[in-house]
Amino acid sequence: MNIHPRDAELVGGALLTEPDATEEDARSARRVTAVYVYEWPVRAWHWMNALAILVLCVTGYFIGSPPQIGGWGEASEHFLFGWIRFAHFAAAYIFAAGFLGRLYWAFVGNHHARQMFYLPVWSGRWWKEVLFELKWYAFIEPHPKKYIGHNPLAQVAMFTFITLGSVFMIVTGFALYAEGQQAGGWADALFGWVIPAVGGNSMTLHTLHHFGMWAIVIFVIIHVYAAIREDIMSRQSMVSTMISGHRMFKDDDPD
Ligand code: HEM
Ligand code: HEM
Repeated sequence: MNIHPRDAELVGGALLTEPDATEEDARSARRVTAVYVYEWPVRAWHWMNALAILVLCVTGYFIGSPPQIGGWGEASEHFLFGWIRFAHFAAAYIFAAGFLGRLYWAFVGNHHARQMFYLPVWSGRWWKEVLFELKWYAFIEPHPKKYIGHNPLAQVAMFTFITLGSVFMIVTGFALYAEGQQAGGWADALFGWVIPAVGGNSMTLHTLHHFGMWAIVIFVIIHVYAAIREDIMSRQSMVSTMISGHRMFKDDDPD
């Protein structure tokens, strides 16, 4: 087999430190490429947003189903629920500001940063790939495709549950918040129209906001499963891509 002089040097040299490294290892290290996909604001937003959602879900769940807590004594010593609501609202501000920042980055960042904000429903090829990915996830399709950004099915999930989902949670959440702040506040000025729009009953809005949480929880469970499954089974890196920003490919087949 012909070895390129660079590869021969690589096997003998210091770049591959493992003594058993083969010529194939060396050639692979030379060929297989990485693409810089997720810039730091996208990655920072991803993990901060995940943390905010965790806090929002746990505290939101307790707001919806308050446990029997407290006991006898001075009310000022029983502020646990105050802290739960405070944590919900603090995380809510981080979640909302983060979403606005992420939206801004869709305009100024690279083209991968825009993927979460639209679905190319006009493209026949895109629909075919959505179907292909469904079959791949269902273990029907044996050989996966390579993707540099999100695969089309992931794009559908992210757009629906996170882009639309975040807007829904922010609008319904701040409308509930406006009720607590009372009339005349900024939240009332911006979101005061929402409760009348759902029939004037804030309980309906609580229920819608609550359903929104379960939709996001379902997304997160599937998303984490898919990220780890794809890291193992697909032809490219996944979890480390959301940490370093680089997508690494496991083979250099052209398709
Ligand atoms: C509340 C929890 C989470 C939410 C809401 C969430 C949401 C998202 C969203 C919206 C994206 C698209 C990012 C963009 O285009 O800007 C994404 C990508 C990604 N997330 Fe998460 N995520 C969560 C937790 C996690 C966890 C725990 C992991 C690791 C196991 C993870 C791994 C990834 C990976 C690898 C990508 C990139 C996928 C790809 O390149 O196609 N996520 N996530
Ligand atoms: C992923 C995002 C969010 C999740 C999962 C979430 C979850 C929840 C849940 C489950 C409830 C209880 C609803 C009920 O059954 O009564 C709740 C209540 C509430 N949420 Fe959120 N929420 C989110 C975002 C927000 C945002 C952005 C705001 C804006 C400030 C917000 C403000 C509120 C308010 C004001 C309440 C009612 C508090 C009370 O009645 O004591 N939430 N949230």
